[in-house]
Amino acid sequence: MYRKSSKPLISAREINERLDTLGKDVAAFGCDIVITVLSGGFIFSADICKRIATPKLQLAFIRASSYGSGTESSGNLKITGLENIDIRGKKVLVIDDILDTGNTMFGIKQALAGMGAKEIKTCVLLDKPARRTADITADFAGFEIENKFVVGYGLDYAGDYRTFPEIWTMEEDDGK
Ligand code: IMP
Ligand code: MG
Repeated sequence: MYRKSSKPLISAREINERLDTLGKDVAAFGCDIVITVLSGGFIFSADICKRIATPKLQLAFIRASSYGSGTESSGNLKITGLENIDIRGKKVLVIDDILDTGNTMFGIKQALAGMGAKEIKTCVLLDKPARRTADITADFAGFEIENKFVVGYGLDYAGDYRTFPEIWTMEEDDGK
């Protein structure tokens, strides 16, 4: 069993301040379309997209699941929602909540690679480099964190805690 820590790892204020600087960097990329990975990426993506206020920016949404629940994924990646997205000749920004093992973002980039994009960049709120197994780094990342399971600001533990405005760690509950 896990339970939420008593103090946030990253406060809402720290997130908001980082969004302003990261948003400027991301806006400078000048993407044509943002592809958001649901569900975890939705809050972060909304906040970043508000900082790329250009008239022609298109939004698309995909799901990536590795049949995991709890704190471990199974590694069997399934991506849905790509069928109706046209990225030919476009600069694409893929937004997800976290780069953990990197398998999800690696798989998404591979799936997008054959679809004719002009350029593909990736953006995550959190980067957990200690867990990386796939050969991938994020082009834009909000915060580097240590190897802890985190929730809030879109990230969940078995579906819970997504709407908390801060990032919290989940700690092993020893029953005491
Ligand atoms: P990956 O290991 O980089 O493929 O990450 C897969 C997915 O697992 C991410 O998109 C997140 O949705 C989820 N995930 C990874 N680490 C955490 C975490 O610490 N908290 C909540 N979800 C996580
Ligand atoms: Mg996810």
